[in-house]
Amino acid sequence: MSPPPIPADCRAFVLFGATGDLARRMLWPSLYALDCDGLLPPAFQLIGAATSQLTAEQFAGRVKDAILQSANAALFNEAAFTAFIARVRYVAVDIQAPGGLEPIRAQLLPNKAEEKCGIIFYLSTGPQLFGQICLALRDSGMVDQYSRVVIEKPIGADTASANRTNEAVAAAFTEDQVFRIDHYLGKESVQNLIALRFANSIFEPLWNANAIEQVQISVAETVGVDGRWPFYDATGALRDMVQSHLLQLLCLVAMEPPASFTPSAVRNEKVKVLWSLRPIAGADIATHAVAGQYTAGFSGGQAANGYLEETGAGAAAGASTTSKTETFVALRVEIDNWRWAGVPFYLRTGKRLQKRQSEIAIQFKPAPYNIFAGIGAALAPNMLLIKLQPDEMITLTLMHKKPGLHEVQLGEVGLNLSLDGAFGPSRRRIAYERMLLDVLRNNSALFVRRDEVEAAWKWIDGIIDGWRTTGQTPKPYSAGSWGPTAAIELLARHGHAWHE
Ligand code: BG6
Repeated sequence: MSPPPIPADCRAFVLFGATGDLARRMLWPSLYALDCDGLLPPAFQLIGAATSQLTAEQFAGRVKDAILQSANAALFNEAAFTAFIARVRYVAVDIQAPGGLEPIRAQLLPNKAEEKCGIIFYLSTGPQLFGQICLALRDSGMVDQYSRVVIEKPIGADTASANRTNEAVAAAFTEDQVFRIDHYLGKESVQNLIALRFANSIFEPLWNANAIEQVQISVAETVGVDGRWPFYDATGALRDMVQSHLLQLLCLVAMEPPASFTPSAVRNEKVKVLWSLRPIAGADIATHAVAGQYTAGFSGGQAANGYLEETGAGAAAGASTTSKTETFVALRVEIDNWRWAGVPFYLRTGKRLQKRQSEIAIQFKPAPYNIFAGIGAALAPNMLLIKLQPDEMITLTLMHKKPGLHEVQLGEVGLNLSLDGAFGPSRRRIAYERMLLDVLRNNSALFVRRDEVEAAWKWIDGIIDGWRTTGQTPKPYSAGSWGPTAAIELLARHGHAWHE
């Protein structure tokens, strides 16, 4: 079934930061794929805006390289690219200069009397520029009721700075025109989690503290900070990953069934989860939150530098090679509501870990009594494992009898749901394809509302304050390991262990 059409009032897309890293890796390849699928309206214009002076040919060359080096390289063909690039114009802008957005206006709205703009603005720039760009857009006359603005995480570095950004954005756009992207919500496997929970009746009676022992949400990466040291060092894993991606996953696992799959119904339920997070503060800082920083080791079979030896470490103004920025976080999170009281949610994320593995593991309570104990057969609790990446797979582990005439012997067997097996193989899409299409279709269900950002920051601020006041610094872990041993102890204290 083809997706709903893009409303006719959506005429053009302006990408600020058009030559940046995200635009190159994700956004141009995603826009190209949407065009190849015939999902961009015929007259839809794409404007790339950045500070460099580039000719149309130079910019087209960059876009072509971006597609060829991306996950969508296999979609490339000259005819499709020629058609795509014909929609694209590059415009050099100086956002600091008065009237700096005039070149964009001249491209898109040459007739000043034009009353309908219908332009989507994607701000793929440093977050410090969001406010300034929004105000300049408002003053340029390019914003109208049909406009939308897309902003990337991180929105701020704490509650106060997030509020400043949100206020500046709100000076130009109403809340329903603002699309805050968390690209994890564009992943097929993450959307499938919503379907799994709310399109099946068998899970709901078990989806609570009566049946569930613990939940683990783990986003493990093998990459280091690559060339992003200055950004990363000012940010750290808690702000970079937990405040956004991990808390969004937690919301999808923990939220109540929304009344419908509409933006406000879904987001109303997600924000209630964030409001119910028990603050990690005081004595809980030591027992509920672990920070780590990688040291040299072996990752992916190769020698890997430690965080402090990464390219760019200490080079940025104000940065120091004795940085205390965390590249790993593990948390024990408690949700104070009826459904989840007493069920720990363990969150873990880190760079340079042993494997790239993102998954949600829901461990059910053990069987109340083991009738096989007398013959020495142990029982393992059932687990629903939702693998998000690199493999997408849902597995329910069940105890089975091993075949044979011997005394009963039990073993764990996974009931595996493979989407490729069920629906046939399909191209794995870049998460941004889905997110961009939803922006064009004006569907904000998978975007983060302002109150969610605020609630998430309020909770994260508490942990950052706690680390600061208790003087906790990140514990070292070798690149290629699963993080500091303190992260293992975090669970072991409660008789739990990480699923790996
Ligand atoms: C980004 C973070 O939001 O997500 C990066 O800034 C991280 O540090 C990335 O590497 C992970 O995304 P994915 O889709 O590769 O899991």
